[in-house]
Amino acid sequence: MRMEITNVSEYEKIAKQKLPKMIYDYFASGAEDQWTLRENRSAFSRILFRPRILVDVSNIDMTTTILGFKISMPIMIAPTAMQKMAHPEGELATARAASAANTIMTLSSWSTSSVEEVNSTGPGVRFFQLYVYKDRNVVRQLVGRAEKAGFKAIVLTVDTPRLGRREADIKNRFTLPPSLTLKNFVELNIEKMDMTNDSGLASYVGSQVDRSLSWKDVKWLQTITSLPIILKGVMTAEDIRLAVQAGVAGIVVSNHGARQLDYVPATITCLEEVVKAAQGKVPVFLDGGIRRGTDIFKALALGASGVFIGRPVVFALAADGEAGVRKVLQMLSDELELTMALSGCTSIEQITRNHVVTESDSNRNLSKM
Ligand code: FNR
Ligand code: LAC
Repeated sequence: MRMEITNVSEYEKIAKQKLPKMIYDYFASGAEDQWTLRENRSAFSRILFRPRILVDVSNIDMTTTILGFKISMPIMIAPTAMQKMAHPEGELATARAASAANTIMTLSSWSTSSVEEVNSTGPGVRFFQLYVYKDRNVVRQLVGRAEKAGFKAIVLTVDTPRLGRREADIKNRFTLPPSLTLKNFVELNIEKMDMTNDSGLASYVGSQVDRSLSWKDVKWLQTITSLPIILKGVMTAEDIRLAVQAGVAGIVVSNHGARQLDYVPATITCLEEVVKAAQGKVPVFLDGGIRRGTDIFKALALGASGVFIGRPVVFALAADGEAGVRKVLQMLSDELELTMALSGCTSIEQITRNHVVTESDSNRNLSKM
């Protein structure tokens, strides 16, 4: 008998059974002590609800507009690399599932399907995540191809001048399986990861990614593309102010799924500070540890314009391909809708700061006593 999947986290257990250890560990791991990995989840459990009652919730509208694109719900797909390690259809399955749910998928630079292949899956609003190579001709070519393939925004990842230390990948000598390639880089001959005594990905990042990346490169990027640029990996008020000055179209509060700097706070803990500093000038999105509709509601209540999910997609892909990803999006959508109904909110705009209580609220109240 097939087990009924009733929540997003159950796919991780199936993925763990199905995948080779090297691949499961790569998907699941965080950096070093994995404190932030645990905290990305547990911080959500310290935020509680203040539900309103006797509101007519017979009709709930979860639609929202992101960079001018109307989508069915504020739940989008984060870029995760090398999805064909999870399932033979990889990013193509994810793209189809996102379109079916009428939401946005972000494709990783390091996808195992090319931007053109993903575009050929059919219509859909898609963003392209960019890693900046030392060789700027590579970046020019890549961004040009993404634009031509119909991607609607560039998501510039700004938290990865070097790869975080993921100890399982080092122990497993993680590398891309020989049957797969980083498909966007085949013509450029930089589509393979070497076998090393270390994580193969860490050495690929070391040899290709530009650690000198700085604000001036954000300006440069704006000169080579007309697409809006979203910065992914902003964690502080200081940096959002600089991001607004740089004229970006949005930012993602992200700690890269706790895979980069360990002992940064959970993203949900940083969100309010960043939202305040953004002063409504750019939309602020969040990723990291989203596994429930209640998590999404909490992020929206603290000022996020939408959320992105990472690991739930790769684990569902591993378990059940496109159907798995569709089911993940459906379950999160259903859970968010129910959370809204039980909190007395009938549209995304009605979700406010007053619908949640955080630790900082409790501290403030205590200090008043
Ligand atoms: C990622 N992430 C990521 N980010 C990015 O900008 N480019 C990438 O190629 C990848 N690749 C990647 C692979 C895997 C296996 C994971 C788990 C994560 C980070 C990702 O976009 C996102 O920030 C986190 O995954 C969000 O946290 P959750 O939802 O996984 O908890
Ligand atoms: C990772 C890179 C690819 O987190 O972003 O594995």
